[in-house]
Amino acid sequence: MESKKLAAEKAVEFVKDGMIVGLGTGSTAYFAIQKIGQKVKEGLSIRAIATSNQSEELAKELGIPLLPFAEIDEIDVTIDGADEVDVNWNLIKGGGGALLREKIVAAATKQLIIIVDESKLVKELGKFPLPVEIIPFGYEMTIRKLQKLGAEPVLRKAGDEVYVTDNGNYIADCHLGSIAQPDELHRMLNLIPGIVDNGLFIDMAAVVIAGYVDGSVRQLEK
Ligand code: 5RP
Repeated sequence: MESKKLAAEKAVEFVKDGMIVGLGTGSTAYFAIQKIGQKVKEGLSIRAIATSNQSEELAKELGIPLLPFAEIDEIDVTIDGADEVDVNWNLIKGGGGALLREKIVAAATKQLIIIVDESKLVKELGKFPLPVEIIPFGYEMTIRKLQKLGAEPVLRKAGDEVYVTDNGNYIADCHLGSIAQPDELHRMLNLIPGIVDNGLFIDMAAVVIAGYVDGSVRQLEK
């Protein structure tokens, strides 16, 4: 937890007065939102957009001013976590189920800052099951298509119920083992009707900050 907090708090140094800030989702982004909330109380003037209902609620509790997407052309900085970061800074995201809004926000962002603890840094993506957001209509067929690709999809559950995203969709967690060509896989998956998007974030991260168990924190270089 401490290494996630270290990375999160370092990332918040990028947030300056007047910025529009994207708020990520998950236990690492939580620390960043807390820190932003503290700075807002101390006088920092920003407006934010959240990547999930959960982060939106937290931002409201902390008094961080929020903007609807309709009023935004561009986001200056987004701070978000990741499940895996490879050596080229391609990412797997969506462990917390917010991949679709996270990607929409990331794509509208000038500087996407990814915050992780060192356990998330990998040579090649794929050990973490790749979350794929799918439309409930015909999801059985979509899952069969993923099976045919060898993706070993598992429909995400919340207890006994099917997990439902903030967008009313399902998630298939795909056990791919090792993803040699993430950009190709990304394109291939998103061509399947029924798939809304997948958790591969290709070439989107501008900055990666990692916290380490020894208490250090580093802004990585490619
Ligand atoms: C949520 C995400 C999270 O950023 C990712 O799952 C990492 O979560 P955590 O910071 O809790 O380890 O993509 O959809």
